[in-house]
Amino acid sequence: MVVNVGIIGTGAIAKKLAKAINCVDGANLSAVSSRTLDRARHFAEEFNVSLWYEGLNDFLNNTDIDLVYIATPNNFHYQNTIDALNSGKSVLCEKPFALNYIESKKMIEIAEKKNLLLVEAMWTKYFPGIKRVKNILDSGILGDIVTVHGDLSYLLDGKDRLFDRRMGGGALLDLGIYPITVMHHFMGNPENILASSQFTETGVDESTSMIFSYKSGAKALISCSINAKSTNEFSIFCSKGWIRLNDNFTRPTSISYFSQKSGERHEQFLYENLGYEYQIEGVLADFNGNKTESSTVKQSDTLEIMKILDIVRNKVGLSFE
Ligand SMILES: NC(=O)c1ccc[n+]([C@@H]2O[C@H](COP(=O)([O-])OP(=O)(O)OC[C@H]3O[C@@H](n4cnc5c(N)ncnc54)[C@H](OP(=O)(O)O)[C@@H]3O)[C@@H](O)[C@H]2O)c1
Repeated sequence: MVVNVGIIGTGAIAKKLAKAINCVDGANLSAVSSRTLDRARHFAEEFNVSLWYEGLNDFLNNTDIDLVYIATPNNFHYQNTIDALNSGKSVLCEKPFALNYIESKKMIEIAEKKNLLLVEAMWTKYFPGIKRVKNILDSGILGDIVTVHGDLSYLLDGKDRLFDRRMGGGALLDLGIYPITVMHHFMGNPENILASSQFTETGVDESTSMIFSYKSGAKALISCSINAKSTNEFSIFCSKGWIRLNDNFTRPTSISYFSQKSGERHEQFLYENLGYEYQIEGVLADFNGNKTESSTVKQSDTLEIMKILDIVRNKVGLSFE
């Protein structure tokens, strides 16, 4: 079955996903909505989209759209998702899913009521490299996790939307969410959280460092920033060895690991384009399987991540009001 996908927003990530959607069999990029008709038309021409709209009303009234991909800034995810669900469409919503746990919970409740698929676009979870590391850790050959180091940082221009507090800016929600999600995927929910941030003049976190403690005694040291260059690696040190998602762990192309039993090994995970296709294929499979939640990005995990982000924000004093 061909799934008609409509995109809200024409920015950086919308363009990358449009390219990916056009590469996946069974996906038809059928419509785009922008704040201006001009930008919508340009986007449609560039990515071979047959319908373009100014604003949301007519876009949402198009009953041929099956799935809406939301690619707007963080503060719009909540309302865009609710509007799309209320128009009877399934939704793939960019990360962070919303600004906080309460918004996220309401979005999921509406999707449940409407019996529609609602997925957080946490593309990292769909990569073969991430699945492989999970399998190796679950196999027990590395023993117990003792310490984890994960960082995602980029040196951004002060004009970037991430410096805008009202848009839910800052390092934590856009970047920190990745190492937190990967930690949560491998280790589950932490018991205790310590956090400290450095703030920009605009009132968002320029950098945030966190220590997550687990019942087992394991600790995860997670950091993110918008004013640093980083190796963007994710390392896990265990009682019988170690494993590392090499640059860039959000879309891994290689992993390295060492176990006492088999020594050091390296594995490559090559893919074409940027790898967004994995996410699109996964979401289409769930949509075609009449699922109301993703088999890869569980709604309960999304909610736990949003709760962790709320706790960290509360500890460091990061508010979007
Ligand atoms: N999964 C990933 O790898 C990944 C990577 C980057 C970003 N993201 C996420 O994707 C979302 C969008 O990020 P982005 O980097 O693509 O942002 P962006 O380049 O600024 O694009 C956002 C788009 O949203 C639309 N928009 C609607 N209302 C807006 C407003 N008041 N101000 C600005 N834009 C508005 C705009 O399209 P129109 O002008 O056409 O309306 C704009 O181009 C964020 O939530 C971000 O966290 C995900």
